[in-house]
Amino acid sequence: MERRDFLRSGLALGAGIGAASVGGVALLPDPAQAFPARSDGPLELNSNENPLGLAPDARRAVIDGIARANRYPGERAELTQELAAINGVKEENIVLGCGSTEVLQMAVQALSTPDARLILAEPTYEDVPWYCQPFPYKLEKVPLDGRFAHDLERMKELAAAAPSRVIVYVCNPNNPTGTVTPSAEVDAWIETASENTHFLVDEAYYEYCEDPGYWTSAKWIAERRNVIVTRSFSKIYAMAGMRLGYGIAHPETADLLRSYIGRNNANHLALVAALASLRDSGLIERSRRANADGKRILHECLDELGLEYLPSNTNFVLHRISGDLRTYRERMREHDIFVGRPFPPMLEYNRLSIGAPDEMERFTEVLREFRTNGWV
Ligand SMILES: Cc1ncc(COP(=O)(O)O)c(C=O)c1O
Repeated sequence: MERRDFLRSGLALGAGIGAASVGGVALLPDPAQAFPARSDGPLELNSNENPLGLAPDARRAVIDGIARANRYPGERAELTQELAAINGVKEENIVLGCGSTEVLQMAVQALSTPDARLILAEPTYEDVPWYCQPFPYKLEKVPLDGRFAHDLERMKELAAAAPSRVIVYVCNPNNPTGTVTPSAEVDAWIETASENTHFLVDEAYYEYCEDPGYWTSAKWIAERRNVIVTRSFSKIYAMAGMRLGYGIAHPETADLLRSYIGRNNANHLALVAALASLRDSGLIERSRRANADGKRILHECLDELGLEYLPSNTNFVLHRISGDLRTYRERMREHDIFVGRPFPPMLEYNRLSIGAPDEMERFTEVLREFRTNGWV
Protein backbone atom coordinates (compact mmCIF):
# COMPACT_ATOMS: atom_id res chain seq x y z
CA MET A 1 0.00 0.00 0.00
CA GLU A 2 1.30 3.49 -0.87
CA ARG A 3 2.13 5.65 2.14
CA ARG A 4 -0.47 8.17 0.99
CA ASP A 5 -3.20 5.48 0.78
CA PHE A 6 -2.19 4.11 4.16
CA LEU A 7 -2.56 7.55 5.72
CA ARG A 8 -5.86 8.05 3.98
CA SER A 9 -7.28 4.76 5.28
CA GLY A 10 -5.94 5.53 8.76
CA LEU A 11 -7.66 8.89 8.71
CA ALA A 12 -10.88 7.35 7.49
CA LEU A 13 -10.79 4.83 10.34
CA GLY A 14 -9.97 7.53 12.88
CA ALA A 15 -12.92 9.56 11.67
CA GLY A 16 -15.13 6.50 12.06
CA ILE A 17 -14.38 5.86 15.73
CA GLY A 18 -17.22 7.26 17.75
CA ALA A 19 -19.41 7.35 14.65
CA ALA A 20 -22.41 5.05 14.33
CA SER A 21 -20.84 3.02 11.54
CA VAL A 22 -17.64 2.38 9.63
CA GLY A 23 -17.94 1.31 6.01
CA GLY A 24 -21.63 0.57 6.51
CA VAL A 25 -21.00 -1.77 9.48
CA ALA A 26 -22.73 -0.71 12.68
CA LEU A 27 -20.22 -0.29 15.51
CA LEU A 28 -22.76 -0.18 18.26
CA PRO A 29 -25.95 -1.77 17.01
CA ASP A 30 -29.14 -1.43 18.92
CA PRO A 31 -28.95 -4.37 21.37
CA ALA A 32 -32.62 -5.03 20.66
CA GLN A 33 -31.77 -5.61 17.03
CA ALA A 34 -31.47 -9.34 16.43
CA PHE A 35 -28.95 -9.30 13.59
CA PRO A 36 -26.23 -6.80 12.74
CA ALA A 37 -26.54 -4.79 9.53
CA ARG A 38 -25.11 -6.79 6.63
CA SER A 39 -24.12 -5.79 3.17
CA ASP A 40 -25.64 -7.49 0.14
CA GLY A 41 -22.44 -9.49 -0.29
CA PRO A 42 -22.17 -13.24 -0.71
CA LEU A 43 -24.05 -15.57 1.59
CA GLU A 44 -21.39 -17.16 3.77
CA LEU A 45 -22.86 -20.46 4.84
CA ASN A 46 -19.58 -22.35 4.76
CA SER A 47 -17.65 -21.91 8.02
CA ASN A 48 -20.16 -22.51 10.81
CA GLU A 49 -20.00 -18.94 12.04
CA ASN A 50 -22.65 -17.24 14.12
CA PRO A 51 -24.79 -14.76 12.11
CA LEU A 52 -25.65 -12.70 15.22
CA GLY A 53 -22.30 -10.95 15.06
CA LEU A 54 -20.28 -9.93 18.09
CA ALA A 55 -22.60 -9.29 21.06
CA PRO A 56 -23.28 -5.56 21.65
CA ASP A 57 -21.39 -5.53 24.99
CA ALA A 58 -18.45 -7.30 23.37
CA ARG A 59 -18.38 -4.68 20.59
CA ARG A 60 -18.26 -1.94 23.19
CA ALA A 61 -15.49 -3.75 25.05
CA VAL A 62 -13.47 -4.04 21.84
CA ILE A 63 -13.90 -0.36 21.01
CA ASP A 64 -12.92 0.65 24.55
CA GLY A 65 -10.11 -1.91 24.50
CA ILE A 66 -8.44 -0.27 21.51
CA ALA A 67 -7.06 2.33 23.93
CA ARG A 68 -4.84 -0.38 25.44
CA ALA A 69 -4.04 -2.29 22.27
CA ASN A 70 -0.45 -1.02 22.45
CA ARG A 71 0.03 -2.96 25.72
CA TYR A 72 0.52 -6.70 26.15
CA PRO A 73 -2.76 -8.37 27.13
CA GLY A 74 -3.49 -8.12 30.84
CA GLU A 75 -6.82 -9.93 31.08
CA ARG A 76 -5.57 -13.50 30.77
CA ALA A 77 -5.84 -14.20 34.51
CA GLU A 78 -9.31 -12.65 34.76
CA LEU A 79 -10.68 -14.66 31.84
CA THR A 80 -9.02 -17.84 33.09
CA GLN A 81 -10.66 -17.27 36.46
CA GLU A 82 -14.11 -16.83 34.91
CA LEU A 83 -13.75 -19.86 32.66
CA ALA A 84 -12.66 -21.97 35.62
CA ALA A 85 -15.69 -20.83 37.62
CA ILE A 86 -18.12 -21.48 34.76
CA ASN A 87 -16.73 -24.97 34.22
CA GLY A 88 -16.44 -25.83 37.92
CA VAL A 89 -12.67 -26.37 37.69
CA LYS A 90 -9.56 -24.54 38.90
CA GLU A 91 -7.61 -21.90 37.03
CA GLU A 92 -4.68 -24.31 36.69
CA ASN A 93 -6.97 -26.52 34.55
CA ILE A 94 -7.56 -23.87 31.87
CA VAL A 95 -5.30 -23.31 28.86
CA LEU A 96 -6.14 -20.36 26.61
CA GLY A 97 -5.73 -20.73 22.87
CA CYS A 98 -5.78 -18.50 19.83
CA GLY A 99 -8.98 -20.31 18.87
CA SER A 100 -9.59 -23.81 20.18
CA THR A 101 -7.58 -24.98 17.20
CA GLU A 102 -4.40 -23.80 18.93
CA VAL A 103 -5.19 -26.05 21.89
CA LEU A 104 -5.71 -28.96 19.49
CA GLN A 105 -2.33 -28.12 17.98
CA MET A 106 -0.67 -27.97 21.40
CA ALA A 107 -2.12 -31.39 22.22
CA VAL A 108 -0.85 -32.96 19.00
CA GLN A 109 2.62 -31.50 19.57
CA ALA A 110 2.76 -32.31 23.27
CA LEU A 111 1.64 -35.92 22.90
CA SER A 112 3.71 -36.88 19.87
CA THR A 113 6.03 -39.87 20.27
CA PRO A 114 7.88 -41.83 17.56
CA ASP A 115 5.22 -44.53 17.46
CA ALA A 116 2.07 -42.70 18.58
CA ARG A 117 -1.22 -43.40 16.83
CA LEU A 118 -4.08 -41.04 16.25
CA ILE A 119 -7.46 -42.73 16.08
CA LEU A 120 -10.21 -40.57 14.66
CA ALA A 121 -13.60 -40.78 13.01
CA GLU A 122 -14.25 -40.42 9.30
CA PRO A 123 -15.53 -37.91 8.45
CA THR A 124 -14.58 -35.55 11.22
CA TYR A 125 -13.03 -32.10 11.69
CA GLU A 126 -9.69 -31.94 9.90
CA ASP A 127 -7.48 -29.77 12.11
CA VAL A 128 -6.12 -32.56 14.30
CA PRO A 129 -4.90 -34.79 11.45
CA TRP A 130 -3.58 -31.64 9.78
CA TYR A 131 -1.44 -30.81 12.84
CA CYS A 132 -0.15 -34.39 12.91
CA GLN A 133 1.51 -34.04 9.52
CA PRO A 134 5.01 -32.95 10.62
CA PHE A 135 5.06 -35.69 13.28
CA PRO A 136 5.42 -39.46 12.98
CA TYR A 137 1.82 -40.17 14.00
CA LYS A 138 0.16 -43.13 12.34
CA LEU A 139 -3.46 -42.24 11.58
CA GLU A 140 -6.27 -44.75 11.92
CA LYS A 141 -9.58 -43.54 10.49
CA VAL A 142 -12.76 -45.23 11.63
CA PRO A 143 -16.01 -44.69 9.69
CA LEU A 144 -18.89 -43.31 11.74
CA ASP A 145 -21.40 -45.97 12.78
CA GLY A 146 -25.03 -46.33 11.65
CA ARG A 147 -26.09 -43.51 14.01
CA PHE A 148 -23.41 -41.21 12.54
CA ALA A 149 -21.76 -41.44 15.97
CA HIS A 150 -18.11 -42.34 16.56
CA ASP A 151 -17.72 -46.10 16.36
CA LEU A 152 -16.12 -46.31 19.77
CA GLU A 153 -16.07 -50.12 19.77
CA ARG A 154 -13.94 -50.23 16.63
CA MET A 155 -11.78 -47.37 17.90
CA LYS A 156 -11.27 -49.27 21.14
CA GLU A 157 -10.13 -52.38 19.24
CA LEU A 158 -7.58 -50.33 17.34
CA ALA A 159 -6.38 -48.70 20.57
CA ALA A 160 -5.96 -52.10 22.20
CA ALA A 161 -3.87 -53.31 19.26
CA ALA A 162 -1.59 -50.25 19.23
CA PRO A 163 2.02 -50.78 20.36
CA SER A 164 2.16 -47.76 22.67
CA ARG A 165 0.65 -44.29 22.93
CA VAL A 166 -2.75 -43.64 21.39
CA ILE A 167 -4.60 -40.36 20.97
CA VAL A 168 -8.32 -40.71 20.41
CA TYR A 169 -9.86 -37.63 18.85
CA VAL A 170 -13.55 -37.42 19.73
CA CYS A 171 -15.31 -34.51 18.07
CA ASN A 172 -18.55 -34.26 19.99
CA PRO A 173 -20.86 -33.10 18.49
CA ASN A 174 -19.08 -34.10 15.32
CA ASN A 175 -18.24 -31.77 12.47
CA PRO A 176 -19.36 -32.19 9.62
CA THR A 177 -22.30 -34.40 10.65
CA GLY A 178 -23.61 -32.39 13.61
CA THR A 179 -24.33 -35.67 15.35
CA VAL A 180 -23.63 -36.70 18.91
CA THR A 181 -21.70 -39.66 20.26
CA PRO A 182 -23.56 -40.56 23.47
CA SER A 183 -21.54 -39.22 26.39
CA ALA A 184 -22.25 -42.32 28.49
CA GLU A 185 -20.35 -44.34 25.86
CA VAL A 186 -17.44 -41.91 25.87
CA ASP A 187 -17.39 -42.02 29.68
CA ALA A 188 -17.42 -45.81 29.72
CA TRP A 189 -14.29 -45.92 27.57
CA ILE A 190 -12.45 -43.19 29.50
CA GLU A 191 -13.25 -44.94 32.75
CA THR A 192 -11.57 -48.17 31.69
CA ALA A 193 -8.82 -46.82 29.42
CA SER A 194 -5.15 -47.05 30.32
CA GLU A 195 -3.08 -43.89 30.95
CA ASN A 196 -1.48 -44.44 27.57
CA THR A 197 -4.74 -43.77 25.75
CA HIS A 198 -5.25 -40.01 25.54
CA PHE A 199 -8.65 -38.52 24.80
CA LEU A 200 -8.82 -35.26 22.93
CA VAL A 201 -12.47 -34.29 23.16
CA ASP A 202 -13.41 -31.41 20.89
CA GLU A 203 -16.49 -29.62 22.24
CA ALA A 204 -16.50 -26.62 19.87
CA TYR A 205 -20.32 -26.88 19.54
CA TYR A 206 -20.97 -27.86 23.18
CA GLU A 207 -23.33 -24.96 23.96
CA TYR A 208 -25.58 -25.68 20.95
CA CYS A 209 -26.19 -29.28 21.90
CA GLU A 210 -29.42 -29.98 23.74
CA ASP A 211 -29.42 -33.77 23.41
CA PRO A 212 -30.12 -35.24 26.87
CA GLY A 213 -27.56 -37.99 26.20
CA TYR A 214 -24.82 -35.43 25.79
CA TRP A 215 -22.65 -33.84 28.43
CA THR A 216 -19.11 -32.58 28.71
CA SER A 217 -16.13 -34.85 29.20
CA ALA A 218 -14.54 -32.19 31.42
CA LYS A 219 -15.57 -34.03 34.58
CA TRP A 220 -12.69 -36.48 34.01
CA ILE A 221 -9.90 -33.96 34.22
CA ALA A 222 -9.96 -33.88 38.03
CA GLU A 223 -8.66 -37.43 38.21
CA ARG A 224 -7.32 -38.27 34.74
CA ARG A 225 -4.23 -36.86 33.06
CA ASN A 226 -5.24 -38.44 29.76
CA VAL A 227 -8.30 -36.28 28.97
CA ILE A 228 -8.19 -32.89 27.23
CA VAL A 229 -11.41 -31.01 26.40
CA THR A 230 -11.42 -28.08 23.98
CA ARG A 231 -13.99 -25.28 23.70
CA SER A 232 -14.41 -22.39 21.33
CA PHE A 233 -15.55 -18.76 21.45
CA SER A 234 -16.06 -18.89 17.67
CA LYS A 235 -19.46 -20.51 17.62
CA ILE A 236 -22.07 -19.73 20.30
CA TYR A 237 -20.20 -16.52 21.28
CA ALA A 238 -19.92 -15.32 17.65
CA MET A 239 -16.22 -14.49 17.96
CA ALA A 240 -14.67 -16.51 15.11
CA GLY A 241 -12.68 -13.56 13.81
CA MET A 242 -11.38 -12.66 17.26
CA ARG A 243 -9.69 -16.08 17.67
CA LEU A 244 -10.19 -17.40 21.17
CA GLY A 245 -10.69 -20.85 22.61
CA TYR A 246 -9.54 -22.87 25.59
CA GLY A 247 -8.64 -26.29 26.84
CA ILE A 248 -9.65 -27.97 30.09
CA ALA A 249 -7.22 -30.54 31.46
CA HIS A 250 -5.58 -32.01 34.55
CA PRO A 251 -3.01 -29.52 35.96
CA GLU A 252 -0.06 -31.65 34.81
CA THR A 253 -1.54 -32.04 31.33
CA ALA A 254 -2.41 -28.34 31.20
CA ASP A 255 1.23 -27.53 32.06
CA LEU A 256 2.41 -29.86 29.34
CA LEU A 257 0.12 -28.16 26.82
CA ARG A 258 1.37 -24.73 27.94
CA SER A 259 4.93 -25.70 27.10
CA TYR A 260 3.77 -25.60 23.45
CA ILE A 261 1.76 -22.38 23.73
CA GLY A 262 2.50 -19.20 21.78
CA ARG A 263 3.38 -16.66 24.49
CA ASN A 264 0.66 -14.03 24.96
CA ASN A 265 -1.40 -16.00 22.45
CA ALA A 266 -4.83 -14.56 23.25
CA ASN A 267 -4.90 -10.94 22.17
CA HIS A 268 -6.20 -8.06 24.25
CA LEU A 269 -9.31 -7.35 22.14
CA ALA A 270 -10.30 -11.01 22.07
CA LEU A 271 -9.91 -11.25 25.84
CA VAL A 272 -12.07 -8.20 26.58
CA ALA A 273 -14.68 -9.37 24.06
CA ALA A 274 -14.73 -12.80 25.69
CA LEU A 275 -15.16 -11.36 29.18
CA ALA A 276 -18.04 -9.17 28.00
CA SER A 277 -19.62 -12.12 26.17
CA LEU A 278 -19.43 -14.41 29.19
CA ARG A 279 -21.08 -11.71 31.32
CA ASP A 280 -23.91 -11.28 28.80
CA SER A 281 -26.37 -13.66 30.42
CA GLY A 282 -28.70 -13.74 27.41
CA LEU A 283 -26.13 -14.44 24.73
CA ILE A 284 -26.22 -18.24 24.68
CA GLU A 285 -30.00 -18.27 24.52
CA ARG A 286 -30.07 -15.65 21.75
CA SER A 287 -27.60 -17.68 19.69
CA ARG A 288 -29.53 -20.90 20.25
CA ARG A 289 -32.81 -19.27 19.31
CA ALA A 290 -31.45 -17.67 16.15
CA ASN A 291 -29.92 -21.01 15.20
CA ALA A 292 -33.19 -22.85 15.80
CA ASP A 293 -35.09 -20.30 13.67
CA GLY A 294 -32.63 -20.60 10.79
CA LYS A 295 -32.60 -24.38 11.05
CA ARG A 296 -36.39 -24.54 10.94
CA ILE A 297 -36.47 -22.64 7.64
CA LEU A 298 -33.88 -25.00 6.19
CA HIS A 299 -35.58 -28.15 7.49
CA GLU A 300 -38.93 -27.09 6.02
CA CYS A 301 -37.38 -26.66 2.60
CA LEU A 302 -35.40 -29.92 2.78
CA ASP A 303 -38.56 -31.78 3.84
CA GLU A 304 -40.51 -30.22 1.02
CA LEU A 305 -37.84 -31.24 -1.51
CA GLY A 306 -37.41 -34.70 0.03
CA LEU A 307 -33.71 -34.12 0.69
CA GLU A 308 -32.56 -36.18 3.65
CA TYR A 309 -30.58 -34.49 6.43
CA LEU A 310 -28.84 -35.56 9.60
CA PRO A 311 -30.21 -34.47 13.01
CA SER A 312 -28.02 -31.53 13.93
CA ASN A 313 -26.87 -30.59 17.43
CA THR A 314 -24.82 -27.72 16.09
CA ASN A 315 -25.10 -24.57 13.96
CA PHE A 316 -24.84 -26.48 10.68
CA VAL A 317 -26.75 -29.23 8.90
CA LEU A 318 -25.41 -31.99 6.65
CA HIS A 319 -27.97 -32.63 3.94
CA ARG A 320 -28.16 -34.68 0.77
CA ILE A 321 -27.87 -32.95 -2.56
CA SER A 322 -28.63 -35.88 -4.89
CA GLY A 323 -25.93 -34.95 -7.38
CA ASP A 324 -22.30 -34.08 -7.70
CA LEU A 325 -21.00 -31.89 -4.83
CA ARG A 326 -18.45 -30.04 -6.96
CA THR A 327 -21.06 -28.96 -9.48
CA TYR A 328 -23.47 -28.11 -6.69
CA ARG A 329 -20.91 -25.88 -4.98
CA GLU A 330 -20.02 -24.17 -8.25
CA ARG A 331 -23.67 -23.48 -8.99
CA MET A 332 -24.22 -22.08 -5.50
CA ARG A 333 -21.14 -19.93 -5.99
CA GLU A 334 -22.66 -18.56 -9.20
CA HIS A 335 -25.61 -17.50 -7.04
CA ASP A 336 -23.17 -15.78 -4.65
CA ILE A 337 -23.58 -18.47 -1.99
CA PHE A 338 -20.69 -20.21 -0.25
CA VAL A 339 -21.56 -23.67 1.07
CA GLY A 340 -19.45 -26.26 2.91
CA ARG A 341 -16.33 -27.96 1.60
CA PRO A 342 -16.24 -31.67 0.67
CA PHE A 343 -16.02 -34.14 3.54
CA PRO A 344 -15.06 -37.46 2.04
CA PRO A 345 -16.45 -40.06 1.96
CA MET A 346 -19.80 -38.22 2.37
CA LEU A 347 -19.59 -36.55 -1.02
CA GLU A 348 -23.28 -36.77 -1.75
CA TYR A 349 -23.95 -34.37 1.13
CA ASN A 350 -23.52 -30.64 1.62
CA ARG A 351 -22.62 -29.15 4.99
CA LEU A 352 -24.57 -25.97 5.36
CA SER A 353 -23.96 -23.44 8.14
CA ILE A 354 -27.08 -21.90 9.61
CA GLY A 355 -27.35 -18.21 8.82
CA ALA A 356 -29.83 -15.56 9.91
CA PRO A 357 -33.46 -16.28 8.97
CA ASP A 358 -33.39 -13.91 5.98
CA GLU A 359 -30.18 -15.59 4.79
CA MET A 360 -31.83 -19.00 5.07
CA GLU A 361 -34.83 -17.68 3.11
CA ARG A 362 -32.44 -16.59 0.39
CA PHE A 363 -30.65 -19.94 0.40
CA THR A 364 -33.86 -22.00 0.31
CA GLU A 365 -35.21 -19.90 -2.53
CA VAL A 366 -32.12 -20.82 -4.56
CA LEU A 367 -32.37 -24.48 -3.51
CA ARG A 368 -35.99 -24.59 -4.73
CA GLU A 369 -34.81 -23.05 -7.99
CA PHE A 370 -32.20 -25.82 -8.25
CA ARG A 371 -35.00 -28.36 -7.91
CA THR A 372 -36.98 -26.66 -10.68
CA ASN A 373 -33.84 -26.97 -12.84
CA GLY A 374 -33.52 -30.64 -11.87
CA TRP A 375 -30.15 -30.01 -10.15
CA VAL A 376 -30.96 -31.45 -6.71
C1 LIG B 1 -15.08 -29.24 15.57
C2 LIG B 1 -14.27 -28.00 15.51
N1 LIG B 1 -13.22 -27.87 16.33
C3 LIG B 1 -12.47 -26.78 16.34
C4 LIG B 1 -12.72 -25.74 15.48
C5 LIG B 1 -11.82 -24.54 15.50
O1 LIG B 1 -12.46 -23.52 16.16
P1 LIG B 1 -11.73 -22.22 16.66
O2 LIG B 1 -12.26 -21.12 15.84
O3 LIG B 1 -12.07 -22.11 18.12
O4 LIG B 1 -10.25 -22.41 16.46
C6 LIG B 1 -13.80 -25.81 14.60
C7 LIG B 1 -14.08 -24.73 13.66
O5 LIG B 1 -14.93 -24.77 12.83
C8 LIG B 1 -14.60 -26.98 14.62
O6 LIG B 1 -15.63 -27.13 13.80
